[in-house]
Amino acid sequence: MTTIERNSPNPFLAGNLAPVHEEVTVTDLRVTGSIPTELTGRYLRNGPNPVGRINEEKYHWFTGHGMVHGIRLRDSKAEWYRNRWVRTKQVCDVLGGTPPPSDWPADHPSFPANTSVIGHAGRTYAIVEGGSPPIELSYDLDTVRISSLDGTLPMAFSAHPKRDPRTGELHVMTYWWGWGNKVQYLVVGVDGRVRRTVDIDTQGGPMLHDLAITEKYALVFDLPCVFNLDAAMKGASLPYYWDHDYEARIGFLPRTNEKATSADVKWVSIDPCYIFHPMNAYDEGDEVVLDAARHPKMFDRERRGPSEGDPVLTRWRLNVSTGAVRETTIDDRPQEFPRIREDLVGLPYRYGYAAGIGVDFAQDTLTKTDHQTGRVVARTDQPRFGYGEPVFVARTGGVDEDDGWVIALRHDTVSDTSDLVIFDAAALDADPVAVVHLPVRVPNGFHGNWIPDGQ
Ligand SMILES: [Fe+2]
Repeated sequence: MTTIERNSPNPFLAGNLAPVHEEVTVTDLRVTGSIPTELTGRYLRNGPNPVGRINEEKYHWFTGHGMVHGIRLRDSKAEWYRNRWVRTKQVCDVLGGTPPPSDWPADHPSFPANTSVIGHAGRTYAIVEGGSPPIELSYDLDTVRISSLDGTLPMAFSAHPKRDPRTGELHVMTYWWGWGNKVQYLVVGVDGRVRRTVDIDTQGGPMLHDLAITEKYALVFDLPCVFNLDAAMKGASLPYYWDHDYEARIGFLPRTNEKATSADVKWVSIDPCYIFHPMNAYDEGDEVVLDAARHPKMFDRERRGPSEGDPVLTRWRLNVSTGAVRETTIDDRPQEFPRIREDLVGLPYRYGYAAGIGVDFAQDTLTKTDHQTGRVVARTDQPRFGYGEPVFVARTGGVDEDDGWVIALRHDTVSDTSDLVIFDAAALDADPVAVVHLPVRVPNGFHGNWIPDGQ
């Protein structure tokens, strides 16, 4: 096995972005503080962790093989930590073992499922965008199968399904370069099966990382980072580049009409930018309020990772009737991986959480933005600790929107190990209520979720 050094010249393989080289299982983890007894389930987080030979110079952060890290909590104890590569044929070619069974033909797109991990309808899935299907994992993170959602998935899935808190259904925006000027919207029912599919015409082949939903609409981010055939023919690991001539626009697919098609999508132009992640969106009269981490552009000069200027938290007020747009900066501190209280997805909300972003996309600070007062709590424990994506978990029966916990992984640069940290979300700048000490390092990655048992 090729070992990538921590001092790789590629910033997306260096420092705490360097991969780890072993799968480990550790039980009865050391805990400082007191894990809330309400937390019974798993915190899981996915991220790229390349294995085998790669071209270090050209390696793109988004293309590394997926590795899921998990911590199981119950009865105020941290029962285990596991990390497992998500098995695909490519991973098995390096590590050995039999590739998992697949619901798909052998030539179906199979990109590393490295971006997020979710629980839905009692199953756990590692997920990615770009054409690949979800990969089902066991409770203990072994790969079960390359899934078609019981034969209901037309083709591609996404790393960012949004669960409608009113229905429990997942709303998903998918894309694949081979579709040409088209993306596809899916609704996955609470039974885990796709029940609605809408093909949506776009101007080109946008890299469509995420979507937002409101009560009235599903939002389509048709933005100027698009599939580049020349780059693909030349072997680019991720052939999506910034296109200066591509109009930046957001589509609004009506959700209130279950028969709506591409022809019903209303498009609103915005100033050129790129959005990986909305914090949230909601309806307000004829307007949709959209909050997102706004990148000035994407994959223009830096084509190994998302470093084309600072991502800043931005609010758009988009009038779907008139096309009028107002764009304002909420906070110009660089931040990404925005999260909120999940039962307010698509609805008016007050608090958003995010990870502060440093040089070469280092994840450092934890932020909490109060949209009502404008107050921002930015917790930094630099230079010792760098925090990843904060996940909010609501306290059952809580009244205030921030009554619950913020859970995040952090890297300890002194011990070169990682911790799972649990904060009282209402006191993000106070000491954590619990720290689960892992004996290993977890590389900075992408997305995670708290998956209570049964979800
Ligand atoms: Fe993402």
